[in-house]
Amino acid sequence: MSKVSIVYWSGTGNTAMMAGSIADGVAAAGGEAELITVDEASVDALKDASVIALGCPSMGAEQLEETQMEPFMCELDGVIAGKQIALFGSYGWGNQEWMRDWEDRIVADGATVVNGEGIAVNGTPGPDAEDELKALGQTLASL
Ligand SMILES: Cc1cc2nc3c(=O)[nH]c(=O)nc-3n(C[C@H](O)[C@H](O)[C@H](O)COP(=O)(O)O)c2cc1C
Repeated sequence: MSKVSIVYWSGTGNTAMMAGSIADGVAAAGGEAELITVDEASVDALKDASVIALGCPSMGAEQLEETQMEPFMCELDGVIAGKQIALFGSYGWGNQEWMRDWEDRIVADGATVVNGEGIAVNGTPGPDAEDELKALGQTLASL
């Protein structure tokens, strides 16, 4: 079982909480999770990973956060073909278009979105969302 890297950006903590729940799920399944804020993440270090979790809230107008996450994602686009990518993030008032666009982008990169879609949570994750995120972590640990 390899280490599961969970790379995320979070402005007000909601997506960070989601990342923590995924890490809890990985650990519950006996795996090892590494939580990495995107400003500290290295694309080079992820090149050999077969499974990566990426988190970012809906920002701008249904976009990834533009100063750190979007540039990081641009770099990742070139190296994730064949990998399994889990997506997650919090949103506010929108229709989750940012997540649908992100899923399409992962598929266009030649990678697979784990479970076929990302987990989008409105605002702060509640108990149901936490359970869903932990289950995702358990899935990631088993891949
Ligand atoms: C500058 C800015 C732009 C945002 N744009 C959107 C948006 O387009 N759609 C949406 O649903 N929420 C939008 N939001 C709301 C955030 O996605 C929401 O507050 C989310 O919970 C923040 O997650 P975080 O705590 O991980 O930073 C925006 C928030 C900010 C600060």
